[in-house]
Amino acid sequence: MAEDDPALLRLRVARAEPAADGIQLLELRHPDGSDLPAFTPGAHLSVRVPSGAMRNYSLCGDPRERDRYLLAVKREEGGRGGSVSLVEGVRAGDEIEVSEPRNLFELDGRAPEYIFVAGGIGITPILSMIRHVRAEGTKRFHLYYLTRSAGVTAFREELSAPDLAGHVTIHHDDGDPDNAFDLWPVFEEPTKAHIYCCGPRPLMDAVRDMTGHWPEKAVHFEDFGSDLVRPRADDTPFRIRLGRDGEELEVPVGVTIMEVLRGHGRRVPSSCESGTCGTCRTGYLEGKVDHRDMVLSPAERKKSLMVCVSRAKSDLLVLDL
Ligand code: FES
Repeated sequence: MAEDDPALLRLRVARAEPAADGIQLLELRHPDGSDLPAFTPGAHLSVRVPSGAMRNYSLCGDPRERDRYLLAVKREEGGRGGSVSLVEGVRAGDEIEVSEPRNLFELDGRAPEYIFVAGGIGITPILSMIRHVRAEGTKRFHLYYLTRSAGVTAFREELSAPDLAGHVTIHHDDGDPDNAFDLWPVFEEPTKAHIYCCGPRPLMDAVRDMTGHWPEKAVHFEDFGSDLVRPRADDTPFRIRLGRDGEELEVPVGVTIMEVLRGHGRRVPSSCESGTCGTCRTGYLEGKVDHRDMVLSPAERKKSLMVCVSRAKSDLLVLDL
C-alpha cells in the first residue's frame, strides 16, 4: 500500500462509463463543488487506485474547465494491475485520491503550428492540447490518431465531427502491421511545426526515427516514464542494507526497492511510483546506483535515489534509513 499523503486531493467520481471497448471515462469533481487546481494542456494526475498503488493518467478535458477533471483509462491486462484496479474498482459516487496536476509534456505556446500523433489511449494528453489550441483559435494543427479498430477508438465521434474535418486523420490498422499508417510523408520535409506524440513504444520509436532531421526541441514525447518502471533484461538481484540498524534485505528481479522496504514494514512516502515526482527520494551511503528516475540532477544522484524505480549496479546498496 502507498503511504497516506496529505498533499493528495480527495475527489468524487461524478461519472464512470465506457469511452470505447476496454476504455473507461472517469469524471472527477470536488465533493463540495469548488474549483479544482488548474492544469495546462498535456498534464497528468497521479491517481491512487483501489489496490493502493499510484498510477499516472493524462487529463483529457479542456484546461479551461475548473469544475472537473476527465480521465480515460485503458484496462491494461498485461500491465502492473493499476488500470484494472481503477476500471473495475471505481464507480460513480466513489471518492478517490489524486495528486495535483503535473505536466511533463508541455505544449510549447511559441510553436506556430502543431502535428499531433496519438496511438490508442495516447490520445488523452493530445486531446487536452487540441481543446486548448481550438479554444485559442490562432494555430493550425493536424492530428493523426492511429488505433486498431473503430471499437477501441475513444472520443471517435467527437474527433470525427464535421468542424474537425481537415484537422484529424483517424486510421485503423486492424492489428495488421502491413496496414500501419505511413507517417513518413508527414515528417519527410521539416516545417516550423512542433510534433507531440503519445502512444505505444513502437509508435514513439518510429516517430523518433522519422524525425531525426527535425530540430530536437520541436519533437515531444509523453510516456510517463513507463520505460523507467519496466523490468529490463539485464536486471539482477542485489541487497540493500539499512544504514541505521544494519538490516540487510534482498531485492529480487521484478521487485522495486520500495516494495521490499514496505514488505518489511518500512514507511516509504510515494506519489507517482514511476520515477517522475520526487516523493520517494532516499539517501544512500555506499554502493553504485542504477538511477532510473527523471527528477534528480547529477549532483543529487551522488547522494540520493528514487526507490520506486532505481536499482543497484553493485551487489550491495547501503541506504540512509
Ligand atoms: S514515488 Fe514519485 S519518484 Fe518515486
